[in-house]
Amino acid sequence: MFNLILFGPPGSGKGTQSEKLIAKYGLKHLSTGDLLRSEIAAQTPLGLEAKSFMDKGQLVPDEVVIGMISSALDNNPNAKGFLFDGFPRTEAQAEALDKLLKLKKTAIHLMLALDVAEAELIKRLLGRGKTSGRSDDTNEEVIKARIAEYHKKTTPVADYYLKFDKVKHIKGEGTVDEIFEVISKEIDGKI
Ligand code: AP5
Repeated sequence: MFNLILFGPPGSGKGTQSEKLIAKYGLKHLSTGDLLRSEIAAQTPLGLEAKSFMDKGQLVPDEVVIGMISSALDNNPNAKGFLFDGFPRTEAQAEALDKLLKLKKTAIHLMLALDVAEAELIKRLLGRGKTSGRSDDTNEEVIKARIAEYHKKTTPVADYYLKFDKVKHIKGEGTVDEIFEVISKEIDGKI
């Protein structure tokens, strides 16, 4: 089993690269953002609660996303590995994920962190907001709040995995294919 975290700020390309990675390596893609947007679309109580945080650019409470990931792991017992996209985003989520994976006698093998300058992140997200229908992409203030949440609560997650020597930084600017090639080399060196 091979378990990968694709890490980075909003707009750094996690979702874009994940699509290519799951096709190449056959990992199960677990994106907490996508799972939350499905709950919103289905108008579940969880979705309605999450939306109030997402619309402000704030993180959804830990217990909500940890519960979703726990169910997703249980629902995919035969996966050859997981690609975590947008999770974990706090140290509490990282600790919970380690415990959940340990119960399944596995662990995180690698975290790839995409580094992109803030001006480029804002440009990409505002660009996507014109067509995506994502309410958190249309307002620059909300985008800046998401980036601020990332710096305050999510960057410590990289330090958490650094302690275990599991983090590699990747330049997240350039063409999608160029970045994919660098990411693939890192994975091939570990898998
Ligand atoms: P989430 O859905 O995870 O969004 P995000 O982290 O804000 O990331 P994005 O999907 O916006 O960006 P990305 O890095 O995937 O980039 P992408 O490939 O899409 O989270 C949304 C919200 O849900 C959070 O704010 C929070 O409220 C909540 N949430 C989710 N997970 C949570 C958790 N674990 N805990 C608590 N709350 C949680 O690319 C972005 C754009 O750039 C696209 O238009 C793409 O085409 C373009 N692009 C990609 N690569 C390139 C490139 N190389 N060059 C030029 N453009 C590019």
